[in-house]
Amino acid sequence: MIPDYYEFCNSAKIVSGSKAIEHIGYELAALGASKPLVLTNKQLLELKVATVVLDALKDTEAEVVAVYDDVPVDSSVAVVNDVARVYRETGADAIVAVGGGSVLDTAKGATIVLTHGAEDLMEYRGAESLVGRRAIAFIAIPTTAGTGSEVTSAAVIKDTERHVKMGFTSLSLLPDVAILDPRMTTGLPPRLTASTAMDALTHAVESFSCVQANPLSDCYARSAIDLIREYLPKVMADSKDPKTRLALANAALLAGAAFSNAMVGIVHAMGHATGGVAGVPHGDAMAILLPHGMAYNLGCAGDRYGELLLNLAGAEAYAATPAAERGTAAIAAVRAMMMSLHESAGLPLTLAEAGVLPEQVPDIAKAALNDGAMSMNPRQPTYEELVEILKGAL
Ligand SMILES: [Fe+2]
Repeated sequence: MIPDYYEFCNSAKIVSGSKAIEHIGYELAALGASKPLVLTNKQLLELKVATVVLDALKDTEAEVVAVYDDVPVDSSVAVVNDVARVYRETGADAIVAVGGGSVLDTAKGATIVLTHGAEDLMEYRGAESLVGRRAIAFIAIPTTAGTGSEVTSAAVIKDTERHVKMGFTSLSLLPDVAILDPRMTTGLPPRLTASTAMDALTHAVESFSCVQANPLSDCYARSAIDLIREYLPKVMADSKDPKTRLALANAALLAGAAFSNAMVGIVHAMGHATGGVAGVPHGDAMAILLPHGMAYNLGCAGDRYGELLLNLAGAEAYAATPAAERGTAAIAAVRAMMMSLHESAGLPLTLAEAGVLPEQVPDIAKAALNDGAMSMNPRQPTYEELVEILKGAL
C-alpha cells in the first residue's frame, strides 16, 4: 500500500566496481575540487587500504593537501573540530573520507562546522540548524559493509566531555559521491564481516517494517536482503573474492539508503542502549536483538515480515510456506543466518555471550525507551515489555 505521504532522497552518486577508486580524479574534477583532505585512520594506512586511495589520487590532477589519520574508533567533537581546522589551514576544497562509520561520520561533522564557518560542532546540535547546502565537496569510501553511512543523512558524534553520543540528521550530510570498491573490504576479518553484515540486514528489515516505509525504501531494503542472503555465505567461505565482497558492499549501501529514508526501530533503540550501557559493538547487538525485536513486532508487522520471507529465504521457501506462517518463518530465517555466522565466525547468540550482565538490563531498557529510533517502531513498548524482551535475549 502506498503511504498517504512520503519523502525519499538519495542524492549521492554511486560509483561501484572493481577499480572504482580509479575514478576519483574524475569525480573530484566534476565537483570542481582539486585539493582534497583525505580523512582516515592509522590502521587503514598500515593495512594498505587507505593507500589504495592515496595511490589513485597520485594519478590525477588533484593535489592531496593533508592526510588526517587521527580518527578514533568513536568519532568525537574534538576530532571533528580539529579536522575542520586542518581543512582551513591547508586550503583544502574537498574531503575524501576513507573508513568505517566513525571516519565517515567525522567527515560529516566537519562539513557542518566548515559550511557554517564555525569553530565548534557543539554550536550545531539539533537538525534545524543544518538546513542549507553544504559548501564542501565530499566523497565517501566505506571500508566496512555495514553502516551504509556513505548514503545516509545522519552522523553520530560523541561528546567526550559529557559521555553522550549526539545524532545529527540533515540531507546536507549526504556525500556527493559514494565509491564502492572491493579492495576496501577484502581484508576485513570474518568476525567483523559477519557483525557489520548483520547491521546492514537489520537496517533493511527495520526500514521495511517501520512507520516511514515507502515504495522506494522497500525496493532498496528487499534488494539489500537478496544480496546478503546470496553473498554473505559466499564471503564467509572465501573472504578474498572481490565479486562477492562488492555485492556485500552494495547490500550495505542499499540498506543504508533504505533506512536513511524509512528509519529504524526497536532493534536499533535496544542496540544503541546496549552499546551505551554495556559496550556491545553495534553489529553484534543487532545480530542478537533482531529476531527478538521482530518477535515483539510480529502482531502488527507480521504481514510485512511475511513479505520479506521471499528475500530472506528465497522463492521456494516463500511459496512452500502458508501466508499466515510467513512472518514467523522470516524470524526463523534470521535465526538460521545468525546460527550459521555463530558457527563460522563466532558471532554471539545472546547478550550474555556479548558480556551483558543481568543487572544491566534495567538501564538498557530505560535508555532504549528514550532512544529516538523507538518512535519509528510500528509498536510502542512499555518499560516492562522492554525488560522482558531483553531478558529473553540474555
Ligand atoms: Fe545500524
